[in-house]
Amino acid sequence: MSATRVLAFNSSPHAPAGATATILDPFLDGMRAADAEVELLFPHKLDIKPCLGCLACWTRTPGRCVQDDAMRGVLAALARADIVVYGTPLCVDGMNAQMKVVLDRSIPLLRPFFVEREGHCRHDRREGCSGGRVALVSMSGFTELDNFDPLVAHLRAASANMGREFAGALLRPYANSLDELARAGVPVADVYNACREAGGQLVRDGSMSPETLGRVSRELVPRDQYIRAVNVHFRQALERRGVSPEIWDRFPGH
Ligand SMILES: Cc1cc2nc3c(=O)[nH]c(=O)nc-3n(C[C@H](O)[C@H](O)[C@H](O)COP(=O)(O)O)c2cc1C
Repeated sequence: MSATRVLAFNSSPHAPAGATATILDPFLDGMRAADAEVELLFPHKLDIKPCLGCLACWTRTPGRCVQDDAMRGVLAALARADIVVYGTPLCVDGMNAQMKVVLDRSIPLLRPFFVEREGHCRHDRREGCSGGRVALVSMSGFTELDNFDPLVAHLRAASANMGREFAGALLRPYANSLDELARAGVPVADVYNACREAGGQLVRDGSMSPETLGRVSRELVPRDQYIRAVNVHFRQALERRGVSPEIWDRFPGH
């Protein structure tokens, strides 16, 4: 049997470093350990222009975008992938712009015709495009898990429209703090282990256990303690730069 083909994105502008990578990378390691072939792309390092909205990919040049940029190779990889992993920092309550451009530019994979599926208007995938599964990996600065609700709902809907099954999400609040907490002696190894386990489960079983995903998201420190630490961090950053308290809160205008 051929290996499961995984196409993963990390759309953070900090990638390959940054907070998203801290949970995406062990997730992908778990997939590799389960013998998957994993390709990881960094959209902000690729020349991928925004969709022009011309719909030529549905009419004049079926299956082909008129823009000759890096998305051509990404589309070929998407068409082959058994599992697609969208890794994005939570950005203004959704995926970030680089990730959204990849989603928008994915419509050449679909046929233009409307069909009815499960009580919804959908498109069918073109022949030669695999279905398979989608997983979301995201980091947020805020602490509450419900901050991810709009993003999860968005990718779940987009997966249905792309004819793929949404297999679940690795959601990690308190971005940036994971490595810092580890250095401060807070035990976080189980979070990384849960990411690895989830990767193995998705490749082997086609699903991820709610218990494992719960460990990825588990509370690390009480919320009020985290809020205090974040505010100390920003206050010190302003003071280090010599910004006086009188102008901290003022929008400078133009
Ligand atoms: C422009 C911008 C918007 C953000 N919006 C949110 C947000 O709506 N909710 C939230 O919890 N965190 C938000 N964050 C914090 C990021 O989610 C967090 O810093 C991120 O997970 C860092 O990941 P990275 O290092 O991989 O880029 C935002 C960060 C930026 C730069």
